[in-house]
Amino acid sequence: TRSAFGTVLSSVLFLLALFCYVEGEQIVIKGGTVTNADGQLVADVLIENGKIAKVQKDLKVPPGARLLDASGQYVMPGGIDPHTHLEMPFMGQVACDDFFSGQAAALAGGTTMHIDFALPTKGDLMQGFHDYQKKAAKACMDYGFHMAVTSWSAKVAADMATLVKKGINSFKFFLAYKGALMVTDEEFLQGLQKCREIGAIAQVHAENGEAVAVGQKRIFEAGITGPEGHALSRPSFLEGEATSRAVRLARFVNTPLYVVHTMSIDAVEEVARARARGQRVIGEPVASALSLNETAMWNPDFKIAAAAVMSPPIRAASHRVKIKEALAGGLLQLVATDHAVFNSTQKAVGKGDFRVIPNGVNGIEERLHVVWEEMVNSGLITPSDFVRITSTAAAQIFNLYPRKGVIAPGSDADVILLDPKVEHHISAATHHSRIDTNVYEGKRIMGKVVVTISRGRIVWENGNLNVTPGTGRFVEMLPMGPLFEGLDILDQEAMHPLGTTPVHHTHAKDEL
Ligand code: URP
Ligand code: ZN
Ligand code: ZN
Ligand code: ZN
Repeated sequence: TRSAFGTVLSSVLFLLALFCYVEGEQIVIKGGTVTNADGQLVADVLIENGKIAKVQKDLKVPPGARLLDASGQYVMPGGIDPHTHLEMPFMGQVACDDFFSGQAAALAGGTTMHIDFALPTKGDLMQGFHDYQKKAAKACMDYGFHMAVTSWSAKVAADMATLVKKGINSFKFFLAYKGALMVTDEEFLQGLQKCREIGAIAQVHAENGEAVAVGQKRIFEAGITGPEGHALSRPSFLEGEATSRAVRLARFVNTPLYVVHTMSIDAVEEVARARARGQRVIGEPVASALSLNETAMWNPDFKIAAAAVMSPPIRAASHRVKIKEALAGGLLQLVATDHAVFNSTQKAVGKGDFRVIPNGVNGIEERLHVVWEEMVNSGLITPSDFVRITSTAAAQIFNLYPRKGVIAPGSDADVILLDPKVEHHISAATHHSRIDTNVYEGKRIMGKVVVTISRGRIVWENGNLNVTPGTGRFVEMLPMGPLFEGLDILDQEAMHPLGTTPVHHTHAKDEL
């Protein structure tokens, strides 16, 4: 019958539309400087079926393909932000960017994948994972999850092993936020051992939470109640202490450690020292630490001061200088954002008590531009280094490489065009996040992401976003990544480090 035919026809058309939508069009990027972590070359790039098909000079443009002229521009792998908190319930609020608005903002800034921190729901990791999957149903770009471990039990340990099978290969432990997310050293140690067993990366928020609680009380009782109290109450050496402790406990069980948001010289020194003795430790500064300093928290306008409150705090300018140098010198490995946004109404709950200002700053949209300005335009690093610290390193650490983090045949077509000659200014008036403030307000950037391609689709071009909720995909990350390779060879030394075990010692003849 006619209606049956209509039904068949419409389903065929629907499937065809879906197919075209998912597969994307053929795109040729002409004449750009293809820039990967290991070098640059002027070449053309062919994209089809959501993947990079060819990278070569003088590529023939297939009929019907979309042509992008990239002369004078860098063609780079899309950014990977390894540290975000979209729609996070935290300190009595829920972060105001969800998986759609936050990802749309990311794409407008050239980031094509992020790894978000799923939180347990009432201590339950599996329930937390399911809840975050639901939140991510409106995703418009690729994403993965880390899982936070905020308590310890046999069930938590079993859930970690289950989650590894579901595509999570990293777990975060908080040594701060006493009475909320914080774990004890005993719980952390158990977690480190479990991570080693299942081949997952242990991540740590390193501040001494006990001392922070005392410091907060001390500053508040001294009559300092505004946002500057946040900076004063948790000094950098408390970050240094916790980083040192975490690094040493990770050494004790011989497992890789990833220190999130290294905000101070103190933390950088501990990461650098560990690496210098051959330990597998990763240090992740965030964009705000490269560009800002603590004076924002002294701004008489509460709205501006509270917007800069995050933990560990943004520090004095000397820390910023050191962090940038450490990044350039390879002591730190990659840059994230810790994008956790609370608008000025949400931040206002802490008016009169800095201890309850929801912690977090923006950055998912600004990260690439901030890193370009602070690191490349300052002459500290090359465009290839830029790719490494904004994309490739994250892909390698979290076992996504070379699917992500490189412009090469077979890789996902997550590609950006960056024009180094376009000047722009960051502002809450023009950004795409839902937050009504911007910690980088007014910052001038020379160089702009002018095109973003996500899985083979042009989603950002000429200042326009073309994104659809529900098109983003969960990217599974497998355990036992590169950081675990050959680790067992070191077990003997880690369990019985030289100098701690009395070794029976016979004097050689020539010594007598
Ligand atoms: O202030 C911050 N960093 N908020 C997000 C939660 C965390 O500690 O990463
Ligand atoms: Zn943290
Ligand atoms: Zn965070
Ligand atoms: Zn001797």
